[in-house]
Amino acid sequence: MKLNGLRGARIAGTGRYLPERRLTNRDLEQIVDTNDEWIRQRTGIIERRIAAPDQATSDLAYEAAKLAIADAGLQPADIDQIIVATVSPDTVFPSTACRLQHKLGCREIPAFDLAAACSGFIYALAVARTGIASGSFDNVLIVGAECLSRFVDYEDRGTCILFGDGAGAAVLSVARDNGPGIIDTHFAADGSGADLMILPGGGSRIPATHEMVDRRLQYIRMEGRVVYKQAISKIVMLVNESLERCNLTRDDIDLIIPHQMNARIIQSAAKHLNLPMEKIFVNIDRYGNTSAATIPIAIDEAKSGGMLKQGDLVCLVTFGGGMTWASALLRW
Ligand code: COA
Repeated sequence: MKLNGLRGARIAGTGRYLPERRLTNRDLEQIVDTNDEWIRQRTGIIERRIAAPDQATSDLAYEAAKLAIADAGLQPADIDQIIVATVSPDTVFPSTACRLQHKLGCREIPAFDLAAACSGFIYALAVARTGIASGSFDNVLIVGAECLSRFVDYEDRGTCILFGDGAGAAVLSVARDNGPGIIDTHFAADGSGADLMILPGGGSRIPATHEMVDRRLQYIRMEGRVVYKQAISKIVMLVNESLERCNLTRDDIDLIIPHQMNARIIQSAAKHLNLPMEKIFVNIDRYGNTSAATIPIAIDEAKSGGMLKQGDLVCLVTFGGGMTWASALLRW
């Protein structure tokens, strides 16, 4: 999406929060029929973080958001809009964003959740960017936060090995004249794949009942192999199309920050793109797949690890439930 002639947006601050408790592959060996070697080889994951019993998604979001606002040199009162990307909200309603607005002590501003599964953060970035471009907002807080452990079936070895909890946040502000910022965003969906990754129970289709719980429909279900194949081709397509729209080439890319879904998917996409793994950010070994939170956590880690230098061309790219997909190209 090009926003010619309108105000540009830049990431002015970032933050992340990971709960303390670690769930290792060895721990999972005690719970389901799996083993450390299989998980490492097939996914690249070694451990994930699990929220404390008294923590919900808004608590994780709050910790990451505080850091992002401070990093941007702002106060909560400076924030004009809050978007929380999540598929594991504190409650169906009110939104996690409303809880976050209150916890942060922000003004009475628009605050809403955005449900686009693993694509949620880039969706939020794209939406926030248009709000800044239109002149409606100067500083938008976007957060990807998930407590997926509450929705994972620890009797299903095909899914429980993948997911973890965490939150990442960014403040999007008006880009300074010709300064670094977001060059391109793209987001789309295809609902024909809606059942490939789904939390079937607890909504209006299958409301919460004893029978629903007996059938374990309150947990995430996934067609892993189908998702795996689609993810690789979509990531390759998104990166190529994004570069094409901006008249740039793969050689121009300094860092790709992909959604952390499976290390093998990331490696395979990098191979198809003919890009060395040094240019791809990976931290799935430590956190697993935290859905909407992986990309903002990764941006903040890449930044604090010195991997993002001023002027770098960075590509964010994701694919997830919906099915949804999204990309963003930014000049750091
Ligand atoms: N431990 C040990 N064995 C396991 C296992 C586990 N945790 N999970 C599955 N297996 C077994 C299967 O039962 C199967 O055994 P079989 O051949 O005897 O039937 C075998 O391993 C292969 O299963 P398969 O499902 O084909 O494995 P895979 O290589 O596709 O890996 C995923 C499974 C889930 C890791 C992989 O499909 C994946 O990552 N998909 C994408 C999921 C994803 O990223 N979702 C989020 C998108 S945002």
